[in-house]
Amino acid sequence: YPFWAQETAPETPREATGRIVCANCHLAAKPAEVEIPQAVLPDTVFEAVVKIPYDHSQQQVLGDGSKGGLNVGAVLMLPDGFQIAPEDRIPEEMKEKVNGAYFQTYKEGQDNWIIVGPLPGDQYEEIVFPVLSPDPKNDPNIHYGKYSVHLGANRGRGQVYPTGQLSNNNVFKSTVAGAITNITEAEAGGYTVTINDGETDYSVEIPVGPELIVTEGQEVAVGEALTNDPNVGGFGQKDTEVVLQSPDRIKWLLVFIAGIMLAQILLVLKKKQIEKVQEAGLYF
Ligand code: HEM
Repeated sequence: YPFWAQETAPETPREATGRIVCANCHLAAKPAEVEIPQAVLPDTVFEAVVKIPYDHSQQQVLGDGSKGGLNVGAVLMLPDGFQIAPEDRIPEEMKEKVNGAYFQTYKEGQDNWIIVGPLPGDQYEEIVFPVLSPDPKNDPNIHYGKYSVHLGANRGRGQVYPTGQLSNNNVFKSTVAGAITNITEAEAGGYTVTINDGETDYSVEIPVGPELIVTEGQEVAVGEALTNDPNVGGFGQKDTEVVLQSPDRIKWLLVFIAGIMLAQILLVLKKKQIEKVQEAGLYF
């Protein structure tokens, strides 16, 4: 969950290597996308659309071993000064697309790092973030320019709890090489698999959820899977960029282009004039 990222990495959700911390516990990789305008003007509300695609016909194992749908969540790291737009600045049409999603800042005083989720994946495969760009006129620390944006987005349950314990959304493996001497099924679900390496019995506890793929008497190697892989989710990250564009620069660019066009037209007119003079057979 995004709040476990906040708890385990309170300073920043992005490690020095560029890895977003969700990946520490959500071990499978699946794609994630963010669509953001190439350039935005200051003090403007725009959409950042996060896409977390997956096969909605699939179900995952839940904590109690039953099957269920997937939830989604994300962390979006916008450039300094950007933030979720206040309610009264968001146009009605954009509000509909946001569809009630609730955004929180990753850490106090850092309004540009935003987390969202868990949200039901069937409704929020696309999450629309209503973002307000900053105005360099109002804040001397904000400058026009090109900045990076980082996204981490996840669907489905993680593999590791903050305590380090594995969730039941994992493949469970043999810890030794040997023969499976006994498999007992617990009343509440789950199994205890006993493996004998020739001398000692070792037992592997398998929580309710993953399906057993071994039988008694079977020889297994170290690290060999005893269960299927129930995980259908995964985490993905994406880096992109956005330009905070000065309206004055665009104005001057238009003036410049108009100037060039005018100069071109004048040159053509001048050429026509010279041609006329030449036609008349006048040479100076
Ligand atoms: C569950 C997102 C960080 C461990 C979930 C779920 C979401 C999510 C959406 C619900 C999945 C579902 O019910 O289908 C994220 C995001 C993170 C993040 C976006 C980063 C910002 C972490 C971290 C850990 C973690 C750092 C480990 C310390 C788990 C586990 C579950 C889970 C174990 C399953 C919980 C259960 O149902 O028993 N996460 N997560 N997540 N997350 Fe994360």
